[in-house]
Amino acid sequence: MSFIEYSDLIQDGDVAIVHLGHNSVTAVKVQHGAQTQTRFGVIRHSTDLISQRYGSKVTCSKGGWVHVLHPTPELWTVTLPHRTQILYTTDIAMVTMMLELKPGSVVCESGTGSGSLSHAILRTIAPTGHLHTVEFHQQRAEKVVEEFKEHRVDHLVTVRNQDVCKDGFGVTGVADAVFLDIPSPWEAVGHAKAAMKKHGGRLCSFSPCIEQVQRTCQALTERGLEEVRTLEVLLRVHNVRPVTLQLPDFGPDSDSSSSSSQAAEEAPPSAAANPASLKIRTTTPPREMPGHTGYLTFATKPRT
Ligand SMILES: C[S@@+](CC[C@H](N)C(=O)[O-])C[C@H]1O[C@@H](n2cnc3c(N)ncnc32)[C@H](O)[C@@H]1O
Repeated sequence: MSFIEYSDLIQDGDVAIVHLGHNSVTAVKVQHGAQTQTRFGVIRHSTDLISQRYGSKVTCSKGGWVHVLHPTPELWTVTLPHRTQILYTTDIAMVTMMLELKPGSVVCESGTGSGSLSHAILRTIAPTGHLHTVEFHQQRAEKVVEEFKEHRVDHLVTVRNQDVCKDGFGVTGVADAVFLDIPSPWEAVGHAKAAMKKHGGRLCSFSPCIEQVQRTCQALTERGLEEVRTLEVLLRVHNVRPVTLQLPDFGPDSDSSSSSSQAAEEAPPSAAANPASLKIRTTTPPREMPGHTGYLTFATKPRT
């Protein structure tokens, strides 16, 4: 298993994603002899996971069952241990496309936080790209290094434990794209520009507040970045459900109505049973929707 390559069989040391039900997934580190408790009973790693195929249905000790899935950045985002606020897949998808990331891209990122975005970047730029990620909180930086090793993507990433606003990304003239998710991104714009290739590249900054966006846009313009655009992405997830629609009763047929007007009076339409109904599947918009996460500001560094 690796987060950038698919394997068929679950092996000792893998991170497997246990799917317990709708909107209920959890990540498990597979270890010989270990057990994982679920609401369906115990999963015994040696017998239930190791050497089974990814995607298998595993019966737990209480007779209930779960599916065991191969890890992906999307599944990691919904199962990872939070050490900070994280980016979710809706924003990540837009960032990945608008930064024009592809295999071979060199990317600078700060802060690393919980590594949610980092995993998506790594999957996109593999097998030849590189991620330089900067996190000034020492424990967070150490923890994410450990996770990158466990997920077998550490050859694609360098984690630097420093302040990006003071010390920059630790590289100059190499990045195709820069991503910022820090409280004061305007203080890192100069370093971001220096980290990017001479022939230019793309930048994105994520900020929850519009005041942060204003200051960032000003700094971007002052530093000569172009095509400055801010956008927000909102997700609407629809539920699929069956409904039964009662067909309307328009009364007796118009052809027969003249001859049987007396009969119609005797038996009013309400009394004439109209059992006709239609069963269909429909989607309903959500009653509650995830709200504002942050503004995404994009810009281009022109060729110099
Ligand atoms: C919101 S989190 C980033 C979450 C990340 N994008 C993810 O998807 O998991 C922000 C991180 O930036 C770090 N940070 C804030 N200011 C920084 C700075 N000046 N230099 C380096 N890291 C910084 C914080 O310690 C925190 O871990």
